[in-house]
Amino acid sequence: MSFPPPTTLDTSNRSRILNLGAGPSSLPTSVLLQSAQDLLDYKGTGIGLCELSHRSGTFKQILDSAESDLRSLLSIPEDYAVLFTQGGGTEQFSATALNLLAYDAARHGRAPGTLDYAVTGSWSSKAIKEGERMGGRVKAVTDSKKRDGKFGRIAPIEEWELSPASECAMLYYCDNETVDGVEFPSPGLPIHQLPDDYRKNVPIVADCSSNILSRPIDVAAHSLIFFGAQKNVGPPGVTILIARKSLLARHPDESIPFGGPRIPTTLVYKNLADNSSLYNTPPMFSIHVSGLVFRHLIEQGGVKGAEQRSSEKAQLVYSTIDESKGFYEGTTSATSRSRMNVTFRIKGGDDGLEGKFVEFCKERGIEQVKGHRSVGGIRASLYNAISVDDAKRLVEAMREFCGQHSG
Ligand SMILES: Cc1ncc(COP(=O)(O)O)c(C=O)c1O
Repeated sequence: MSFPPPTTLDTSNRSRILNLGAGPSSLPTSVLLQSAQDLLDYKGTGIGLCELSHRSGTFKQILDSAESDLRSLLSIPEDYAVLFTQGGGTEQFSATALNLLAYDAARHGRAPGTLDYAVTGSWSSKAIKEGERMGGRVKAVTDSKKRDGKFGRIAPIEEWELSPASECAMLYYCDNETVDGVEFPSPGLPIHQLPDDYRKNVPIVADCSSNILSRPIDVAAHSLIFFGAQKNVGPPGVTILIARKSLLARHPDESIPFGGPRIPTTLVYKNLADNSSLYNTPPMFSIHVSGLVFRHLIEQGGVKGAEQRSSEKAQLVYSTIDESKGFYEGTTSATSRSRMNVTFRIKGGDDGLEGKFVEFCKERGIEQVKGHRSVGGIRASLYNAISVDDAKRLVEAMREFCGQHSG
């Protein structure tokens, strides 16, 4: 089979379409064009990016520069490692539990402690189930669904039922719940409100898969931050970890005599760190494109710039919901509204009308606004590659649709 060689890359349909998908989602066109060139011939070497050796100096430069740009974007302190791995956020549900159980048992020389989870949406709900499957003793310190019958409001920390600090192996939370449109209000989980002994002794782990790089995060207050790339960062395939180096000091096998878990080799954080993310072949293309996205974001004013644009975009859409006199109804409480994934219902959850809205958007080139299959409704994702003008385009469609169907 032979393919005719394309002479140019056609981007015209990209400007017509506004992709508001929840992930994988939009990436900057300039980044994709550069990636396409690099896939074919990386910097005039005559070798495509995915044809290079992952142990070559050329790929090492790609890895180093992605790391260094991410460090500068998030002000990552020196005593934190940046690790590139695979398996997505879902694999981290297992890896976080296993590594933190082992760390806790080896550090204290006793059986692993409890895994505390803040269950604020569908993803943290999956994480706690996986923690339990991995053999952990788990505790939901808060569970919005048990309390309210649905995910939509994050309870204040003073209502959380935390395990005693001396018996606790980690506190896990999801900063932005992509399915349910629930996010910890800025600046993020108020870690300073945790009791002193808990804050100082319990490793805090954050899933930032769907809001990383949209606002600053206090890295030094966490032991581990992880995120899959396919929303604000890059293509699917790479998962990035920011890990406190003290967490990587001991091999988890040291915990086995105390009842710690046996961890598959590629999930052992220490192995990733000791081999500079090259224990085995890394997802080279995804890492490279993520690096280009980091560069692009630096040129666009860094995380501060993204934060400003995110607030503006979210404000535009939420105010359209609030001003619609109940035609549109947000699914989350005002204090827990996600800036990344705006979820709402139409006329109290009229499936037929919601279907019409999805079609109405499609006719205007606005794609992927159908809510997650598990919750229904509408979801518009406003990740970093979505501009303020794009959000205005959505708002215009929402107003027009409301004008036609309210009353
Ligand atoms: C917040 C969050 N965590 C975890 C995941 C799971 O990611 P993956 O599909 O890469 O395993 C997702 C996926 O959308 C997510 O949004």
